[in-house]
Amino acid sequence: MSTYRKYIIAGNWKMNKNATEAKDFAEELVEHQGNQTDVSVVVCPPATDLQAVGHVFEGSNCSLGAQNMHPADAGAYTGEVSAEMLRDLFVSYVILGHSERRQYFGETDAFVNEKVHTALRNNLKPILCVGESIEERDAGRMIEVVKHQLLEGVSGVSEDQLDSLVLAYEPIWAIGTGRTASPEQAQEVHAALRGILAEQFSSEAASRVRILYGGSMKPENADSLLAQVDIDGGLIGGASLDVRSFVKLVEAAQAITERQLSATV
Ligand code: PGA
Repeated sequence: MSTYRKYIIAGNWKMNKNATEAKDFAEELVEHQGNQTDVSVVVCPPATDLQAVGHVFEGSNCSLGAQNMHPADAGAYTGEVSAEMLRDLFVSYVILGHSERRQYFGETDAFVNEKVHTALRNNLKPILCVGESIEERDAGRMIEVVKHQLLEGVSGVSEDQLDSLVLAYEPIWAIGTGRTASPEQAQEVHAALRGILAEQFSSEAASRVRILYGGSMKPENADSLLAQVDIDGGLIGGASLDVRSFVKLVEAAQAITERQLSATV
């Protein structure tokens, strides 16, 4: 019997929207989606918007996520934000190891792994991102690349802690390019990632981990991606900036969930 995994639809706003725009978006989102419970809805705004969005989300079913975090508890790290600061603003998820952080800010697997541990210790759910470049895919090396990123990212994580971790497969060539991985291409890598987790931890633990797809997911292609057995939601950049398209993505996940639940009754 396959394990039921609740979909996560997470918006990654990147460096977009000021606090006023963020508040307006959050209010509209809560109005449309605030009380549904079949899908976990997460918004990851810039750090400067966390408080405004958090206020609006209070008492709703929408959750707050951050886009980054420093691994140290506190100290002389100009410009950085700690896990405790995020917890204080009722943040529950944090994106770690996004390819833009790896590419533009030189984040290594070891540094991402430190952050994963800090997040878990502070009751934040890491959304750990992995993904290959187009050159790596063309060379047929994508599984090898994501395996390395995954195993380094979760190094030292216990099986119990794995339940709090979310994985995101984001092929770099699909991010912000309008070029989406086909459902089959994404499913192949998602299944491989789950297999790697099963080997490293146990198949039971691996079957509970939510693996999100990210890379030009939008309302037009969400259905076929989300319908894949190992795709448990989306990490969405561009299409999460418009509240109507974000809501459509939540509705797509909701509709598939309802179909799955009625099929098991
Ligand atoms: P995109 O970004 O949906 O704009 O491709 C996804 C991401 O980078 O998380």
